[in-house]
Parts: sequence; C-alpha cells; structure tokens
Amino acid sequence: MEDLPWGTDAELTDAQFYNREQDIQIIRTLLESTSKGSPPTIMIIGIRGVGKTVLLKKIKRELEKDYLTSYIDLSATSGYQRGKLTEMGIIEHFYSTWLESCEKKGFSTILKKVSKFFKTKNFGLKDIVDAGGLPLPIPQSEDDYKKLSKFVLDLPQLIFDDHKDKIKGSIIIIDEFQALNDLGENLDSFLWFFRSVIQNQKNVAYIFSGSITSRDEMIEKIAGHSGAFGGRMLNIELKPFTKETVQSYLLEKLPSLNLDESGFERFYKCTQGIPFYVNTFAKLLQKDIHLNEKKVKEEFYRTLPFLAVHLINQWSRLTFHEQNIVTTLIDQPCKRKEIAEKLNITPGSLSKPLNKLQKLRLIESKNSIYHISEPILKAWLKNEYQEKGVFPFRSM
Ligand SMILES: Nc1ncnc2c1ncn2[C@@H]1O[C@H](COP(=O)(O)OP(=O)(O)OP(=O)(O)O)[C@@H](O)[C@H]1O
Ligand SMILES: [Mg+2]
Repeated sequence: MEDLPWGTDAELTDAQFYNREQDIQIIRTLLESTSKGSPPTIMIIGIRGVGKTVLLKKIKRELEKDYLTSYIDLSATSGYQRGKLTEMGIIEHFYSTWLESCEKKGFSTILKKVSKFFKTKNFGLKDIVDAGGLPLPIPQSEDDYKKLSKFVLDLPQLIFDDHKDKIKGSIIIIDEFQALNDLGENLDSFLWFFRSVIQNQKNVAYIFSGSITSRDEMIEKIAGHSGAFGGRMLNIELKPFTKETVQSYLLEKLPSLNLDESGFERFYKCTQGIPFYVNTFAKLLQKDIHLNEKKVKEEFYRTLPFLAVHLINQWSRLTFHEQNIVTTLIDQPCKRKEIAEKLNITPGSLSKPLNKLQKLRLIESKNSIYHISEPILKAWLKNEYQEKGVFPFRSM
C-alpha cells in the first residue's frame, strides 16, 4: 500500500506512523508513573521536521482513554499569531484547552467550580474576555493576575481530584515551546512561576516540546543546573531516521520507488533522514523509473521549492537586511566581522538581526562563527541564484 504522509501532516494514522518504538516505550513508561502519584516532567527536543509533533499526537491517542489529555500548540495562541505571545494569552489558551478536554470526557461539574471561583475569589476585574466560548475574567492588578494564573494552572489537578474514579491522571502536552521566547525578559519569571505551581501537582504530567536542540540557550534556562526545572526535567532527543530505517521504510511503504544503490545514497544525503524531507521528497520523486545518483540529484533541484516550503515562508518574512546577512553565509561560514565587511556595515549593527535569525533557527553560531543551519534553505538559495542570477529577495 502506498500511503506515505505529506511532510506537512500534523497527525498520522497508526499505519502511516513508522519506527520510534523505543522512544514511545520510554515516554509511555515515564508517563504511567503519573497514576502512582509521581508524574514526570519531560522535554522532547529535536530539529525541525524530525517528527516531534506526530509522536506527541500518537502518544496522546494511546493514553486518551485512561487519562485526561490535552495538546497545546503555543504557536497557535492568538497573541503569538498577532505578533506577540503574552503571559495572559498563554493562561487564556491553557484555560480553554483544559475545559475543552473536560467537555470531551463528559466532565461537566468542573464548569460550576470555575464559575464559583470567579465569583468568590473576588479579585479586581478589568474585563471579561471570551476564551474559546468560555468567559475568562481579566484581573486588574499584578496580584489579581497571579491569583487567576495560579488557579488556571492548578485546574488539571483540580479536575483529577474531582474525577479520580474515572481517570488515572492528567497529561498535558505543550508543543512549540520555543514560542515562549516571545516573553523576552519575562520568560524567566514565567518559567519559575509555572514550575512553582506544577511541582505540587501529584497527578499531572507535563511534556514540553519544540524545535529546540540541546545547544539552545533556552534549554539552559529551563532544564539547566540553575534553570527553572533544573535536574527535575527528563530530556529526550528525537533523532533523524538512520540510513537503515529509511531504506526499510521506503521498501515497505513505497515499493514503486526504484532507487539503485547510488540513488539511495544521494536520497539520504538530500534528506538527511529527516522524516519531513524523506516523505516529501519520496512522494515527489518519479515512480517506476530507474533512479540513479544523477537522476535523484536532478529531481532534488526540481522539487526544491516544495521541500523548502516552510523555509521559503520564513525567508519571505525576513527584512531585506536580514536576507542579505543570510546570503553572506551561503558559500562559507563567517565571523561577525567578516559579515560586516561583506555588507559594508559596522559589526555592532549586526547584533539584533543575528539574534533574530538564530531564534528563527535559520542560522547558528559555533565558536563565534555563523553558518546557515538549514541545508535545504541553503540549497534553495544557491539554486535560485544559479537559475536567475539574483537571490530571491522579494520572494513570493
Ligand atoms: N514516525 C514517522 N513516520 C512517518 N512519517 C513521519 C514520522 N515522523 C515524522 N514524519 C513525517 O515528518 C513530518 C513532520 O513531522 P512533525 O511535524 O512531527 O515534525 P516536528 O519535529 O514537530 O517539526 P517542527 O519542529 O517543525 O514542529 C510529518 O508530517 C510526517 O510526514
Ligand atoms: Mg512540531
């Protein structure tokens, strides 16, 4: 059966989902300890397109029956979509997701509890906003805000206490964690507050995830020695598929793909075993024809705009200045001073754009030398330049 998902599919069927048995086993075992009153806090990291989201959704499906499960995508928070994630926006998003999960489970008494809290806790109210069809009061002072936040963050435990007989615990999945970078200087205090509330919860497990790698400074803030969750958080890094895995995957799922040995080597080199690229490229490759190294290479350039689609999206939202900086790194990695020289500007003026490009995970620095961290973006830019003689500055 030829049933390869697209790289953009956010949820895979069990038949489409391949490999990762070991990762799932480990994560499930950790999560099951929630039912014994010692819930884990897990961080699942890994590069873009490696399969974090589809893995989380699969685990959620498997545990849905026994637990109250919620999946929260922080990048879908309305504030983030409008350009800036705020603490209140996060609380609002948590609140509506949790109540929605209750609704799905048929837990109706919780709404009464919530309304009672809002009436009796009498904090100063600025406004009442609509959070996914539910009323959410907006507190007046800083102190009122803390009270409301604490109440919302405690809801999953409260829900469990009320439904002990029906579920073994609550499992909260928080994806696209890197969106929290938007909080800027408030990030630390938010993380510490969050941790202080959830550490008293005996029946709620948290899984965080996002396109973060262990080299990220954000990981240090969260899970590092002096980070908010230091020592308490379990890090699991999802790795790209190995050569062997990709080989058996294609053989099983797409037998009409006729790669010879050199063709397969090239295929692996182009996709680097990252499932997003493996699926997209395999689906776009011509079927039932002999694919050798040369042909795969040709096909790679033909399909680049599709393989790079999410990166082209990011690229087109950069300023001209930021795009220029990226292009200085195409031929070789550079120091900040060298980038400045190439662009005829002062090194100081590069701080902000370099920071932003790193946050977007388009570039990375190693020993103060910057390079493009997405090989597919680099390949696309190079190819555009070769074909059109200019970089696609005003793209799409
Ligand atoms: N186990 C798998 N089996 C088959 N295909 C997979 C698997 N994992 C990932 N994929 C493919 O890769 C695509 C991207 O996966 P996913 O969205 O989970 O990546 P991600 O790590 O969450 O990326 P991002 O950091 O951009 O959010 C999926 O749509 C799917 O096509
Ligand atoms: Mg994801």
